[in-house]
Amino acid sequence: MGKTTTTTNLGVALAQMQKKTLLIDLDPQGALSAGLGIKVTNETNTIYEVMMDEEIPANQAIHPIQAYLDVIPADNDLAAAAIELMPELRREYVLRNVLGILNGWYDYILIDCPPSLNLLTVNALCVSTGVIIPVQCEFFAIRVVNQLIDSIERTRDRMNPKLRLLGILPTMYSTGTIHSREVLEEMKSIYGDKVFDTIIHKSIRFAEATVANKAITDYASKHKGAEAYEQLAQIVLDMTEPSA
Ligand SMILES: Nc1ncnc2c1ncn2[C@@H]1O[C@H](COP(=O)(O)OP(=O)(O)O)[C@@H](O)[C@H]1O
Ligand SMILES: [Mg+2]
Repeated sequence: MGKTTTTTNLGVALAQMQKKTLLIDLDPQGALSAGLGIKVTNETNTIYEVMMDEEIPANQAIHPIQAYLDVIPADNDLAAAAIELMPELRREYVLRNVLGILNGWYDYILIDCPPSLNLLTVNALCVSTGVIIPVQCEFFAIRVVNQLIDSIERTRDRMNPKLRLLGILPTMYSTGTIHSREVLEEMKSIYGDKVFDTIIHKSIRFAEATVANKAITDYASKHKGAEAYEQLAQIVLDMTEPSA
């Protein structure tokens, strides 16, 4: 949990640092698109058309959001893609192929993944150089991290040697609760320095910002949550070279 919130807020923070950033909504639920105020209609080009229709190149699906920040939206049509891609040759690389046209346009492209590890997620892993895993500070949430790390390693070995885990991001941390503190300690004892120093606290402001169609970094820029995502953006900048 926290994938869409992290994609949105990290994207806004990078854009505010004048890094040209593209967010790609790869979840059929379209929460990222909706949260940024994009209304997808029959005429809207989404990532689904870009992936499935050769006549719609990625640059025709870009929606400008604010300075330095663009989005390619998604809607429920994308739910069919995981199945429709099955018979494709090199079906894991469809996203990589269709995004090729954008080479050099952006400093950062962030992909908001669906909740399950399906063919869409594998497509995201095959085009990416880094993965951020947001993990809710609850014991049940830690268990799936191993599975994700396995998938990342398998994808790196078999399909995309450039892929690496950038880090695990603890989110929804409740200050003052023993539970959150224990989960964080557990995460650090298992994953060591793969856990980012930046922690995202639990805050009602995140949900409020979604309702206001704004990332928290815009909605409440003095808020702790906004500062945390700005910190994360700086860490990501330090860890990565902008795509040339
Ligand atoms: N740090 C946080 N504190 C409080 N609520 C949060 C926080 N991060 C996310 N949320 C809320 O939790 C819900 C799920 O978060 P979201 O980022 O959409 O998760 P995912 O994309 O992984 O399903 C949303 O309603 C969001 O507003
Ligand atoms: Mg989401």
